[in-house]
Amino acid sequence: VSQRDLHLLEKAFFEATRAGWLWTAPNPRVGALALAGGHVIGHGYHAAFGAAHAEEAALRDAGAWDREGKRAIPGIVDEMVVSLEPCSATGKKRPPCTQSLLDAGVRRVLVGSVDPDPRHAGSGLDLLRAAGLQVDQPDPEGCAQRFSEQNPAFLGALARPSRPWVLLKWAASLDGKLAADDGTSQWISGVESRAEVHQLRAVSDAVLAGAGTLRADDPSLTARPEEAPPGLRTDPATRQPKRVLLGGASEVQSEARIFGEGGARIWVLGPDQDVAAPILAQADALLRVPKQTKGLDLQQALETLAREHQIRRLFVEGGAQVHGALLAAGLADAVVRYEAPILLGGSLAACAAPSFASPAAAPRLSAEERADLGADLRRAFLLVPGGDSENAQTRAGE
Ligand SMILES: NC(=O)c1ccc[n+]([C@@H]2O[C@H](COP(=O)([O-])OP(=O)(O)OC[C@H]3O[C@@H](n4cnc5c(N)ncnc54)[C@H](OP(=O)(O)O)[C@@H]3O)[C@@H](O)[C@H]2O)c1
Repeated sequence: VSQRDLHLLEKAFFEATRAGWLWTAPNPRVGALALAGGHVIGHGYHAAFGAAHAEEAALRDAGAWDREGKRAIPGIVDEMVVSLEPCSATGKKRPPCTQSLLDAGVRRVLVGSVDPDPRHAGSGLDLLRAAGLQVDQPDPEGCAQRFSEQNPAFLGALARPSRPWVLLKWAASLDGKLAADDGTSQWISGVESRAEVHQLRAVSDAVLAGAGTLRADDPSLTARPEEAPPGLRTDPATRQPKRVLLGGASEVQSEARIFGEGGARIWVLGPDQDVAAPILAQADALLRVPKQTKGLDLQQALETLAREHQIRRLFVEGGAQVHGALLAAGLADAVVRYEAPILLGGSLAACAAPSFASPAAAPRLSAEERADLGADLRRAFLLVPGGDSENAQTRAGE
């Protein structure tokens, strides 16, 4: 094992840390280096779900990427170092990284960890070897451990492949309230927080909101990073997330903002619920799921969204009942909260659901990603299920 190779892998793992799980999940955090004649000429990392993979980012940084043709330019990079095995499956968004490495004319690939996803594990390395590239993996166990430590969100999502990765988001006062008692919540948080929320929408496959929020806030649920002040605009290529609406099927008015421009509308309804005319006219899909005593069957709704609408990353923007129901059913993977310097009082807490039986049964929060955004404090956490999560599932279905 050469010290040079270990040092290069260390640098690739460092590149991976430039993006947090808040942006990349359910994809992994991955870093890469592009070399020519033994010298590093490009650094790259996977910056966000839906953005370029680390290998493409490193090729771009090295000047070895044809932006118009959307493929690697041959003859510039001859060696690639990457913290995770390059992907080989043809996804809908980008060419597989193995193809980009072949196009670039890379002769040697230095790999950290094998992909823990059993659908891919090792197949990228086999493909590169079969194409005649030298593939070296000097420290597979150490790198697998390092990769796991960097990627709890990715590994959590991998364990639940039948539904999307679910991120709950709210803006709250210092005393943890989502809105004043009359239901008004615009605007608790500041302009910097709201700009970040637009970025988080843009990197999600879909945004979900409940009927109570539709009634109270009349949101459009579109990604509008261009509304941020110039210094805060970070992603000009805005993708519009699909919009998933839960309930309210019989009463929505045609002038509601949700019927304006934006991503597809998917309405989640009970099996025999009446549907208002504007929804019938303008919903792109009606998704009927069974009713449970406390609302619609959210597990089934999420599984259908993954299976039939290819939603892998779901951004949930309220309200309190929807947050509470997802939490109680064990269907939330992470939470991001924008805490604003205001005291609202009143009774609208962020998650309206009966409390867990004890603190030991409640989910714990880990892997914090914290940022100061103007006067607000953003804190994002992964949920670690409590010891009593089976009871929580039972409670949600009661
Ligand atoms: N500060 C923030 O970041 C923020 C964000 C969002 C919302 N808010 C505030 O939150 C308030 C709205 O919250 P909310 O709790 O009243 O309403 P909500 O959570 O937005 O919506 C609840 C509705 O969703 C539908 N639903 C269907 N299945 C469900 C299930 N299994 N569990 C729960 N709901 C289900 C039901 O509608 P049907 O009865 O029609 O079926 C239910 O009444 C507003 O005041 C809003 O301003 C604040």
